[in-house]
Amino acid sequence: MCGIIGCTGVKCASEILYKGLEDLEYRGYDSAGIAVLEGGRITAVKKKGRVYALKRAAEQLCGTSGIGHTRWATHGRPSDENAHPHTYGGFSVVHNGIIENYAELKEELIAEGHTFSSQTDSEVVVHLLSKYYRGDLKEAVLAAVRRLKGAFALCILCSRYEGFVAVKYRNPIIVGAGGEALYAASDMPALAGLAESVAVLRDGQIAFASDGKISFCNFSGEPESLTFSPVPAAARGARLCGFPHYMIKEINEIPAAVKNTVHAFTDDKCFSVISRAAKKRGGFKDILLCGCGTAYHSALAAAYFAEDILGVPARAETAGEFRYRKSAAGAGTLFVAVSQSGETADTVEAARAAKEAGAFVLAVTNVPYSALTGIADAVVPVRAGTEVCVAATKSYCGQVAALALVIASLKGGSVYPRMIEELKDIESKCAAAISDCGVEAAARACASSSGVYFIGRGIDYPVALEGSLKLKEVSYVPGEGYPAGELKHGTIALIDGGTLTVAMITDRKLGEKTASAVEQIYSRGGRAAVVCASGCAPKTLLERAEFFIEVPSCKSCLSPIVSVIPLQLIAYRTAVILGRDPDKPRNLAKSVTVE
Ligand code: M6R
Repeated sequence: MCGIIGCTGVKCASEILYKGLEDLEYRGYDSAGIAVLEGGRITAVKKKGRVYALKRAAEQLCGTSGIGHTRWATHGRPSDENAHPHTYGGFSVVHNGIIENYAELKEELIAEGHTFSSQTDSEVVVHLLSKYYRGDLKEAVLAAVRRLKGAFALCILCSRYEGFVAVKYRNPIIVGAGGEALYAASDMPALAGLAESVAVLRDGQIAFASDGKISFCNFSGEPESLTFSPVPAAARGARLCGFPHYMIKEINEIPAAVKNTVHAFTDDKCFSVISRAAKKRGGFKDILLCGCGTAYHSALAAAYFAEDILGVPARAETAGEFRYRKSAAGAGTLFVAVSQSGETADTVEAARAAKEAGAFVLAVTNVPYSALTGIADAVVPVRAGTEVCVAATKSYCGQVAALALVIASLKGGSVYPRMIEELKDIESKCAAAISDCGVEAAARACASSSGVYFIGRGIDYPVALEGSLKLKEVSYVPGEGYPAGELKHGTIALIDGGTLTVAMITDRKLGEKTASAVEQIYSRGGRAAVVCASGCAPKTLLERAEFFIEVPSCKSCLSPIVSVIPLQLIAYRTAVILGRDPDKPRNLAKSVTVE
């Protein structure tokens, strides 16, 4: 989390940095700051709050080199003082990551006479640079980074160097070149409008950018080379195009996300890659799927249908849990890491651990140049396009489509071509779900409820979890997602007239069972609503429901792609009704690159 940016050789650095910070703001919006170098002097401005709070102050700055930061607070509350850049002794630094040994470094530096002005872990970096600087910038940077433990992407400004330095360790940084100008940023879309060519720094690399030239070395100081290539089309930034928010724009892009994901799967010959990998191992003996948040929910849906279709043990686990327990992955395991960004720290590290345990690691990601793709044995692309809204929507649907194709490839025979055909049908079913469902009344009901519970059985359970996460994160209405049978084992104690329970039913066989759970809610004075595939819910249930929404029915493993849509729309409208910003919910950031 946190977005960092650097530039040199531009006409007005502050203008470039401010614009770049707007593009990076999805990574954190607790505070923002810019530092520029002008006539051998560093001037920094920083402010608590969104990037636009910085506009006036940024307009007063110029300079041809500078660095910028947009923050998601880890150490130290959001405030002007804790905002980056941190400036000291002729250096200014912006940081994305966590310096795990900051407390001991801070103690050492204070004992040596350094004065700190923030509560952040990051500030130690600028003090280390000033401590080690003896007239040689490279030596100072090497000495400083060798003292750091944790994860860090840094951009550094030095008053005696017309340019910037970028450092990468465990957190992303990309460098770019365009004409005489050089850039660095946490991600590609922030560079897309500026640079003509880009290169992704590898772990343990440092870039020195000055005077139209860029050179690289490792943490031992040995020179390294990096190849620049044109900015990939997938990295193009997104615009609202007339929609009031990215969330609703991105929900409307679901049919295209599914279509493009199917095309990418065939274009990249994923079927052959997966079936070859399986054949080489005499078939995978188990499948482990990992992800966080929404990506975990698509992984969980895939675990349900993988067992169904393949008949091998398949389970999903949150990446943060998988990392810290004795790994069950082994040489016969297919480990599927699911991540929109491909840079979620827990998912990246879980994939690393699975690879070390001998598993075949498959990355399912929306970002082709991400850290996850560097670790994986093979990559299955999700082609949802840039997702700006912090709440994941179209990427979830793309992930479920990609995962269905992975499982169908493993099954082989006629299952794979049939899955492709089914997915073609899904596009129009998604479009119908987006346009047909009457979510307004549903959103009003959610907005006025003290809690909203989502329940479902089988494949509907992961969707219930996702519906609940979506509503909570953008509207702040509390609630939970539950297997329909579990509510009565405790949570039913919370049910009263103020709460609403939404029952998900896309499998006719399970309709009556879920209807019984709803009866138990009515018996306790609770209110209930239904989201179902047409013809799957008992008529009596629909007659009594506070509202019901029907979506087109489809093959069970693909039903999450369609049935999630009304839940996403309800979350969006509830947020709007309650006056929340659905694109940038409080306390969140889109990319969680810290543990
Ligand atoms: O980039 P990733 O898919 O790895 O991100 C994982 C989660 O942080 C993400 O899905 C998060 O839960 C979203 N805010 C959900 O809308």
